[in-house]
Amino acid sequence: MKTLKTAVVGAGIYGVNHIEVYLQNPHVTLAAVCDLNEETRRKISEKYKVKTYADLQEMLDAESPDAVSIATPDNFHLEPALACIEREIPILVEKPLATTAEDCRKIIQAAKKHNTRVAVDFHKRWDPAAIRIYNLLRQSKGYPIRGYMNMDDIIDVPTKWFKWTNTSSPVDFLGSHCVDLIRWYMGCEATEVYAVGTKKLLASQGIDTYDNIQSIITFENGATWTVENSWVLPSGFAKNNDGRTSILTSEFLIRADSQDRGLQIFDSQKQSTPNVYFFNEFNGKIFGFGADPINSFIDCIINKKDFVACAIDGLEAAKITEAIHLSVETKTPVKIEREI
Ligand SMILES: NC(=O)c1ccc[n+]([C@@H]2O[C@H](COP(=O)([O-])OP(=O)(O)OC[C@H]3O[C@@H](n4cnc5c(N)ncnc54)[C@H](O)[C@@H]3O)[C@@H](O)[C@H]2O)c1
Repeated sequence: MKTLKTAVVGAGIYGVNHIEVYLQNPHVTLAAVCDLNEETRRKISEKYKVKTYADLQEMLDAESPDAVSIATPDNFHLEPALACIEREIPILVEKPLATTAEDCRKIIQAAKKHNTRVAVDFHKRWDPAAIRIYNLLRQSKGYPIRGYMNMDDIIDVPTKWFKWTNTSSPVDFLGSHCVDLIRWYMGCEATEVYAVGTKKLLASQGIDTYDNIQSIITFENGATWTVENSWVLPSGFAKNNDGRTSILTSEFLIRADSQDRGLQIFDSQKQSTPNVYFFNEFNGKIFGFGADPINSFIDCIINKKDFVACAIDGLEAAKITEAIHLSVETKTPVKIEREI
């Protein structure tokens, strides 16, 4: 089978996962990593013995990769995405594809012009619980009536993990996963959003973004969803994030809890509930629903299959998250138009 030469752009907390998965994929040679930060480049080349570049164009000129992962901060996906697409290199872009629908459309237009494929790493679609819910809903003869989904992070994520929190929001960072999963579950598009939000706790620490946003989203099939995304859970919470889903259909009630996956660890400091299904390692192999979409990207290129989540999914998710932000600002419901 053909081996693909890959590269990763953005080698922070999440880009490292792409690096490690590529290093283990037998159909891939990791050619190089690009990151703006000198210290990051030094650590990456030392740990993974891979060539690093500060300049993306220089890396693309020198390495001519067959596929590229983009894991730059939420608001900085457009430029590297266009740079790769213009060279007809298929890309896997971390969620959200972009923080505005306009940027997503630019990516889609460029991809059409250069006949290049774009995948989005909406990794929750590979969560075993999400797959079971998706299959249940697809096989059901009933219809969905109401849904609830929350995804929240502990306050350390916006205050300590990132330097770019001001340019994102809990809805861009977490809500993009929620709206993608809900579109996938519903099999149709959102028509209207009403949302309220609070800027208080993070603002008091000099970070200009929302602590919390609550949204009500109506879908074409008539189902209404409540979505909650917060970035200010207490640091002592048992996991970095919290997430629950509840779906009421004409046939059943589904509940999922992604906070507690069944493993609890207690030490002298606190109780923790690690997500053993996300990234796990055994016998020298990394696996889990964090690794699956990266391996799937490679499989889809080699075997010429459709990507599980593509740029259109990224655009439709961004239309919803953009409408959520607009609704919070205008304090009015915002309609979402179908365009595809
Ligand atoms: N951290 C998570 O839990 C997580 C989970 C899923 C998805 N993601 C997504 O992954 C993306 C990256 O997040 P992260 O957590 O790794 O952030 P991060 O801040 O840890 O890393 C971003 C890296 O990108 C580099 N960078 C910025 N602009 C660049 C550019 N133009 N060219 C090359 N390098 C550049 C930075 O120097 C930094 O090393 C985001 O879109 C995020 O939503 C993160």
